[in-house]
Amino acid sequence: MCGIVGAVAKRNVVSILVNGLLRLEYRGYDSAGLVVVRDGKLDRVRSNGRVAELELKSANTYGELGIAHTRWATHGVPSERNAHPHISRDLIAVVHNGIIENYETLRTGLTTQGYEFTSDTDTEVIAHLIHSHYAQGNLLAATQQALAQLVGAYAIGVVAADNPHQLIAARKGSPLLLGVGECEHFVASDMSALLQVTKNVVYLEEGDVVEVNLADYRIFDAQGKAAQRPVHVSELNNDSVELGEYQHYMQKEIHEQPQALANTLESVCNSQSLVPGIFGAEANNIFPKIENILILACGTSHHAGMVARYWLEELAGIQCTVEIASEYRYRTSVANPKTLVVTISQSGETADTLAALNHAKATGHAFTLAICNVPESAIIRQSKLRLLTRAGPEIGVASTKAFTTQLAALFLLTLVLAKTRGRLSAEKEQQFLHELRHLPSAVQKVLALEPQIAEMSKHFADKHHALFLGRGLHYPIALEGALKLKEISYIHAEAYPAGELKHGPLALVDKDMPVVSVAPNDALLEKLKSNLQEVRARGGELFVFADADTQIKEAEGIHILQMPEHAGFLSPILHTVPLQLLAYYVALQKGTDVDKPRNLAKSVTVE
Ligand code: M6R
Repeated sequence: MCGIVGAVAKRNVVSILVNGLLRLEYRGYDSAGLVVVRDGKLDRVRSNGRVAELELKSANTYGELGIAHTRWATHGVPSERNAHPHISRDLIAVVHNGIIENYETLRTGLTTQGYEFTSDTDTEVIAHLIHSHYAQGNLLAATQQALAQLVGAYAIGVVAADNPHQLIAARKGSPLLLGVGECEHFVASDMSALLQVTKNVVYLEEGDVVEVNLADYRIFDAQGKAAQRPVHVSELNNDSVELGEYQHYMQKEIHEQPQALANTLESVCNSQSLVPGIFGAEANNIFPKIENILILACGTSHHAGMVARYWLEELAGIQCTVEIASEYRYRTSVANPKTLVVTISQSGETADTLAALNHAKATGHAFTLAICNVPESAIIRQSKLRLLTRAGPEIGVASTKAFTTQLAALFLLTLVLAKTRGRLSAEKEQQFLHELRHLPSAVQKVLALEPQIAEMSKHFADKHHALFLGRGLHYPIALEGALKLKEISYIHAEAYPAGELKHGPLALVDKDMPVVSVAPNDALLEKLKSNLQEVRARGGELFVFADADTQIKEAEGIHILQMPEHAGFLSPILHTVPLQLLAYYVALQKGTDVDKPRNLAKSVTVE
């Protein structure tokens, strides 16, 4: 939540800040702002709208040192007065991502000292605190003193009006990285914001504070000791964060799925056998010891975990529980040290998932594995084992290619565990490897159905509710389809295992309730067909995504999207794609902001 960019250079940094914010807007888009230092003064521009508006407003602004922010509101409504940067007494300016939990106490103390608050944010206390310690003109020391008083999570950027070439940044619980240029330096919430200026990046660690100057930078660790951090060369390129020929990032990302899957599976598909080592060196020791699996995740990533449960129990014969991360940490659970705790996260910085992982570790779980799309993210760094999905940056708030690559990664985990437990014959292993190699082209075939799905979406334009049905390992796919639809089209959508309809939800079915069903040609097909008849008998209009050979026929009130042949265990991956496209085209019909749906943000770094 919230995106930060900062720059110090021997040139105007305003366009660098604005272009950086445009890349980070997926993190929050309630308001935006920037401040530059010029002639001993702070020049601040803010807008209670999108970054594009800030760009217009700051067209004539000049400064060689500045910080900027795009906001997802936590404390205080979205408004210009609550937009960052926040300034203390015309001297100190701060941008912040995270939540300061003790801000009310600090605010009371600062008010007593005579500080006036002009916003409702928690961030403003940081600006005043730093100001209160800045008497000797040492911005680094003042920031460190202020940070010692904060409880909560933060990534911050700080500048002072009388310090024209220095920027201080710090992180604890929220991501921040440092971009290294030639006699110019930058900070940002993620690398996509900095590709315009450098590919050299230093990942700041928990508790790091960095003093950034024109010519150099100094990093101090959580204990205040000077620290060395390696400079990496980012593998990202600008194309991966550009829209290109597409209208929206979501559409682009749906279409990138064949490549994202091929990248995620690359090392495995190029080899002749599956080895635990793909999850990290220690997997060889850990996997034979584990007795069961606990999956922790949120939202779409949680749905991926739900699919994996079916695979893990059936193919690897290993008991698996899947929990919503935000719930897990608040219930008393019984830890089993032989449980493998698997966290799934696109961003690797979801606060609920991170907190659940730490809770699991604190209760005695030592075996942790992260499936994540962002290298160097907090969840990756805090887990013993890992498998990176290689979907590339996902910018649309609605998760698409991250989900299907998570499924691919979880299928690999299933196969490796099945093999470790002696449940995967050499012949079966080769068969699954073959199916995985074929997966990108199978997804490509489904993408070719886009025009039919666009046509189908027209039936939803005037609807307020929708039901999604699936059975077995496609029930989580129905959940994912419903989440996509509600998230970007604002149509209220619910998903049910089809057999559950008659236990209540059937009461909702009438001609105004479209019912979307995932219909794979699997063992539950005949049961599903009966469930669909129950819907049709009550006047419900059906939209069925049916595998070839299911013999479900188009008829009045029954619309069929003909999918390719059944893909066996990998079928959930194929059946996800048309539901993503359906949500996308319904959102287009509704005219919503597809990539930035209301009230949401991409990375949910607050609890
Ligand atoms: O980055 P994560 O995978 O941890 O994010 C989890 C959820 O916030 C995320 O999947 C969310 O549900 C998506 N917006 C759904 O499209």
